[in-house]
Amino acid sequence: MLLRNPFSGAFGLEIGDLSIKLIQLSSSPFYERQYFKIKELRFTSLPPGLIAGGEIQQPELVRKKLLYLLGKEGGIFKPVNSSWVVANLPEPKTFLKLIDVESSDNVLTSVDVAYQAKKHLPFELEDTYLDWQVITPTDNTKKKQVLIGAIPKVVADSYTYLLESVGLNPIALEVESAALARSMITADKDYSGQARAILDLGGTRSSLIIYDNNSIQFSTTLNFSGELVTAAIAQELKIEHSRAEELKIKNGLKYDSHNPKYLTAVSGIAENLINELKITLLFYKEHFNNTNAVSRITLCGGMAAWENIDNFISRQLKIAAHPGHPWKNLRNKKLYDFDPNKSLPLACAIGLALKAIQNPLQNSNYQKL
Ligand SMILES: Nc1ncnc2c1ncn2[C@@H]1O[C@H](COP(=O)(O)OP(=O)(O)O)[C@@H](O)[C@H]1O
Ligand SMILES: [Mg+2]
Repeated sequence: MLLRNPFSGAFGLEIGDLSIKLIQLSSSPFYERQYFKIKELRFTSLPPGLIAGGEIQQPELVRKKLLYLLGKEGGIFKPVNSSWVVANLPEPKTFLKLIDVESSDNVLTSVDVAYQAKKHLPFELEDTYLDWQVITPTDNTKKKQVLIGAIPKVVADSYTYLLESVGLNPIALEVESAALARSMITADKDYSGQARAILDLGGTRSSLIIYDNNSIQFSTTLNFSGELVTAAIAQELKIEHSRAEELKIKNGLKYDSHNPKYLTAVSGIAENLINELKITLLFYKEHFNNTNAVSRITLCGGMAAWENIDNFISRQLKIAAHPGHPWKNLRNKKLYDFDPNKSLPLACAIGLALKAIQNPLQNSNYQKL
């Protein structure tokens, strides 16, 4: 294990369909613990169509946007002082699950993990990069719980190529759920006996992550997004996309007496989200071992700031649902007052930045199989 982070200035970069977010942290000692400060926080929007469903469709234009964000092409940003980066892999293209793996002796090998992973993966193993981490503490049992993350090689390679083409050195590419858990689950807190769900409500996609028994159990993509809501408003009220976006943010999930059709437009999508959440929670209860009840749903992503969505979920599911505090694991009191509307969309980028400043290679068994 590396004792110090050899990747000086390493930062987190979240590449989404409609935005790229960059966070670089610095660490300060605080008695025997560290706390973190924000060194750089910048983001840029991406026009629709450059990246769609996590697939890079127009690499040259994405590259230009990245160069701008990194301060390498003039513009408002100063150059970022490091080329080391931890970036996300697009959630809809990734697979994450906790599985049981038996080894022939007490030492687990990549071959043991690959053998079991094959039974779970929705992709062909030969076309997949597999990352894994033993979750159960090392003991003498031959059966271990292993969290596997997988992504088709073509997708991961396209992200590596993009990052390298702008002069960056990717230290790690991480599935979004892992990054979200790093920011949204309180580090060092004992969650025994209770499961948590993290619900990331983003611009073009949403996902639910189940965290239980000190580990992510699995994650799934949901058919809900900010764009879906905006498009439904624009269609129902016959207005421009930009006006629909304004109305969405102003009204939240509430009745608008000036636009009586507004609530009809958005409630179908919200109800659909509830159904998908119910199905996913039931799936977890019925298909996993030693499950605890989900006692809280922590919301993040830009749509977590959508007024009343938290109350709606709480009421419908009878589980407390609240926007979380993505900065909490920085242990920096000055960040407690950070505007939640601005913090919630940064949850994934914060998780990536935390990995970048801590030991980015720790716990990883990244395998090019
Ligand atoms: N205060 C707010 N109220 C409602 N929706 C918001 C608010 N702020 C941002 N959003 C919505 O959040 C979405 C972007 O969320 P974000 O997490 O940044 O997405 P992504 O990570 O997919 O780029 C957009 O649809 C935007 O309209
Ligand atoms: Mg996001």
